[in-house]
Amino acid sequence: MKRQPDNIIGILGNPLKQSMSPILHNYWIKQNRLNYYYCKFQIENIKDINKAIKKLNIKGLNVTIPFKKQIIKYLDKVDKTSSLLQAVNTIKNNNGLLEGYNTDVKGFQQGLDEFKSLSMSKPAIILGAGGACEAVIHGLKEKGIKEIYLMNRTKRKAEAIAEKYAKVLVKGWMDKDIINNVGLIVNTTSLGMIGYPSLPLSLRQVDRDTKIYDIVYNPLETQLIKEAKKNKLDYKTGLSMFLGQAQESFKIWFKIKPTINNYLIYKIKNNIVSR
Ligand code: ATR
Repeated sequence: MKRQPDNIIGILGNPLKQSMSPILHNYWIKQNRLNYYYCKFQIENIKDINKAIKKLNIKGLNVTIPFKKQIIKYLDKVDKTSSLLQAVNTIKNNNGLLEGYNTDVKGFQQGLDEFKSLSMSKPAIILGAGGACEAVIHGLKEKGIKEIYLMNRTKRKAEAIAEKYAKVLVKGWMDKDIINNVGLIVNTTSLGMIGYPSLPLSLRQVDRDTKIYDIVYNPLETQLIKEAKKNKLDYKTGLSMFLGQAQESFKIWFKIKPTINNYLIYKIKNNIVSR
């Protein structure tokens, strides 16, 4: 008889139908012969989560929309990055002590590191001031970016974020003169995501060295990525950040940095396409 895993890890969120985290983590669990299973926990509220995790002896969890901020008050401690961002995407149950981490910053940086020649002495643009924006700000600042220009359709949301950081300036939404003269453009808006309109951005006149990073991964090839390809610009899709944050979470739970191979990428890509 096939042995059932003794230990549970998983993801907390709502909705979770689209989540690809189980595919990744269960692959890595198998690859590393761990006695675990990664489940989806789609719940309505997180009021009793602290007790539930401890009682069920869940070893670790990812946390996603809409709980990344709400979860903090139910944890016993959080690391510096989560505290700065006021958002947690990874929980480790350390013998009954619930610790919160945020691996989105490292995940984003993993994509940055994959660019062949990204200049940190040029400013970067971040499009969007929603949930993912601050992880990107941190990721870029840690890498020593010169300056960040924040653009958002609703300007006051960008202003509220920029106020908290040095060298983050708010600029007009889709200001062409600025867009055409930066080292990096990062899309953190929902535009381009399945079910949303595309980002109305032409890259025809941008500096030839400008790098494009769309953190959207569903679809993998957003209109922005297509536009980058058409104009022969170096780009990263959201897959880099998605894989990077997952690797970091796995490392927190198991002290193993899991590997990414072509088969895994094929599995993920296939799953995105078949939605
Ligand atoms: P939230 O803003 O609730 O945190 P999010 O999904 O984390 O939600 O962020 C969505 C981002 O995409 C926001 O920056 C949003 O801009 P607004 O702050 O103006 O809402 C941006 N966004 C979503 N739809 C957009 C659209 N049609 N045009 C421009 N920006 C859009």
